[in-house]
Amino acid sequence: MRNIGVLTSGGDAPGMNAAIRAAVRGGIYNGLTVYGIERGFEGLIDGEIKEMNVSSVSDILHRGGTILRTARSERFLTEEGFKRALNMLESFEIEGLMIIGGDGSMAGGLKLHHAGVTVMGIPGTIDNDLAYTDYTIGFDTAVNTVLSAISNIRDTSSSHERSTVIEVMGRQCGDIAMYAGVTGGAESILTPDRPVDINAICRKIIQGRNRGKLHNIIVKAEGVDISARDIADMIHERTGVESKIVILSYIQRGGSPTARDRMLASRMGYKAIELLKEGSESKAIGINGTEIVAYDLGDALKMKRMPDLSLLELADVLSI
Ligand code: F6P
Repeated sequence: MRNIGVLTSGGDAPGMNAAIRAAVRGGIYNGLTVYGIERGFEGLIDGEIKEMNVSSVSDILHRGGTILRTARSERFLTEEGFKRALNMLESFEIEGLMIIGGDGSMAGGLKLHHAGVTVMGIPGTIDNDLAYTDYTIGFDTAVNTVLSAISNIRDTSSSHERSTVIEVMGRQCGDIAMYAGVTGGAESILTPDRPVDINAICRKIIQGRNRGKLHNIIVKAEGVDISARDIADMIHERTGVESKIVILSYIQRGGSPTARDRMLASRMGYKAIELLKEGSESKAIGINGTEIVAYDLGDALKMKRMPDLSLLELADVLSI
């Protein structure tokens, strides 16, 4: 293998730049020509492809977002768009492609693999919703951002004796809510993995009040099928406690990556280079415990995510 490409796709995640840096520097160190493909599969279709050098990735390790920019590509799903993407890879003689992104991006990678391209999937999404890896790049930073928001909100929530429903991202995955909720001492955590028990939420608010507790923080994953507004209204109606909502949205997707995310991205990015260099088949790179692992791409994407419900149980106990 002589030429490889790297792209970021789907929602950006802090640490994607660290993975790009590892790919470019690791690739050049191993004698490969590395092309950066801009705007994900969109840029691949349109030929937004540039050769990278050692300096192309200077000063990016600590930056959130992705220097290659990203997109969600509808065109890649069409026969015509996909064909153009394949032609572009052929024109630049790119034999191996590193795709940094979430489940949709990995699925795109699998399609390319079936068309004969060697693909290295690197999990980059704040959602932590890929079953085959313990953690995805960006998750730790997002959790820490949410945690800092919870601390700020708790100060004002206590001063006004309010209840606050904080909505976090994650699509159908409740991991951001669970990790930030447990570590931020939320009174209630709502995820799509368990039905919302409005009685339990209200009971906790009243019991807390009776003990002199001034605040009540509810962390809700965006995938829960009741809106933050409706939950806050129900709380107010049933308890009389003033209830606010905060939707953290894109605030939790930006920012400088944590040490943990930079390390994960650097290790995964370089693992992909090692595999490409040794002529490996397409793989999905992940982490299992402390070990960086690589699974068959198709097998990895078939794995079913098991939410860690013990974290919700732990939160229930610690927030009595
Ligand atoms: O997948 C990452 C994510 O941030 C999800 O948590 C969220 O639902 C979605 O992307 C938002 O996507 P967009 O950037 O298209 O609004």
